[in-house]
Amino acid sequence: MKIFDFVYLISDTKSRRNVGSLIVMASLFFGFYLLGTAFFANDLKIPQRSKMELKDASNCKNRCQPPGSQALPEGILAKTSDLDMRPLWGWFDDGTHLKPSVSLLAIPAGIKQKDLVNKIVTKFLENDFAVMVFHYDGVVDQWDDLQWANRVIHVSAVNQTKWWFAKRFLHPDIVAEYDYVFLWDEDLDIENFDPGRYISIVKEEELDISQPALDPRKSEIHHQITVRRGNSRVHRNYLKLRGSGRCYDNSTGPPCSG
Ligand SMILES: *[C@@H]1O[C@H](CO)[C@@H](O)[C@H](O)[C@H]1NC(C)=O
Ligand SMILES: *[C@@H]1O[C@H](CO)[C@@H](O)[C@H](O)[C@H]1NC(C)=O
Repeated sequence: MKIFDFVYLISDTKSRRNVGSLIVMASLFFGFYLLGTAFFANDLKIPQRSKMELKDASNCKNRCQPPGSQALPEGILAKTSDLDMRPLWGWFDDGTHLKPSVSLLAIPAGIKQKDLVNKIVTKFLENDFAVMVFHYDGVVDQWDDLQWANRVIHVSAVNQTKWWFAKRFLHPDIVAEYDYVFLWDEDLDIENFDPGRYISIVKEEELDISQPALDPRKSEIHHQITVRRGNSRVHRNYLKLRGSGRCYDNSTGPPCSG
């Protein structure tokens, strides 16, 4: 058991930038694809369109598009979405819909860690997070008795790592809506953790990626940089001036900083 392990927070600005580049990439590929098909069509000697048709086409310039590819009416398309659940009917703001979540917790969960996961999810829901639970042991129905079971997104795939889930289910267009994404391990004791306070610190420090430091007395430590230091609110590196694997002030990579 450890008191905190890897926590990754992805800043709003950064993820939005990534979404931007994805969209640019997608449109480049799409443009290329159209170009490719045009050449291909010529090679196959598909009958040319009549002069009349060509004249019509040049008249309407960019406004005319092949059937089925017209733009949808304004307001239907959106570049991003979120994980908030919607009612099947009625209005969203009928009082049952809570205020939209600003951050997201994604956490792997095995039924053996039910108690700890329950505490973590409960605390994050109280702080208005959206929550996604990755079930890696195939057990989903034994969580039903918890009062939040129907308020979170459950994803189940047996024997997969949290990175497997994250890569496939934390799509950039979905997480772009959130200020911060917490991708946590399930064996974290959060008794002394306050998500709102944590976010206020990473905002002030302008951290794109961070994790809460571990309590060295109670945690299994794998990387010294993750250990809490009593004398500072935030640290960005780790010093080791003797022995093997030294870390200096000027070290730039893992395990010294990063
Ligand atoms: C998942 O992993 C466990 C432990 O290695 C193994 O016993 C089990 O058969 C695996 N299940 C599947 C569906 O692969
Ligand atoms: C980093 O600092 C150490 C100790 O002060 C020094 O020996 C080393 O040359 C420095 N490395 C660089 C790249 O400046």
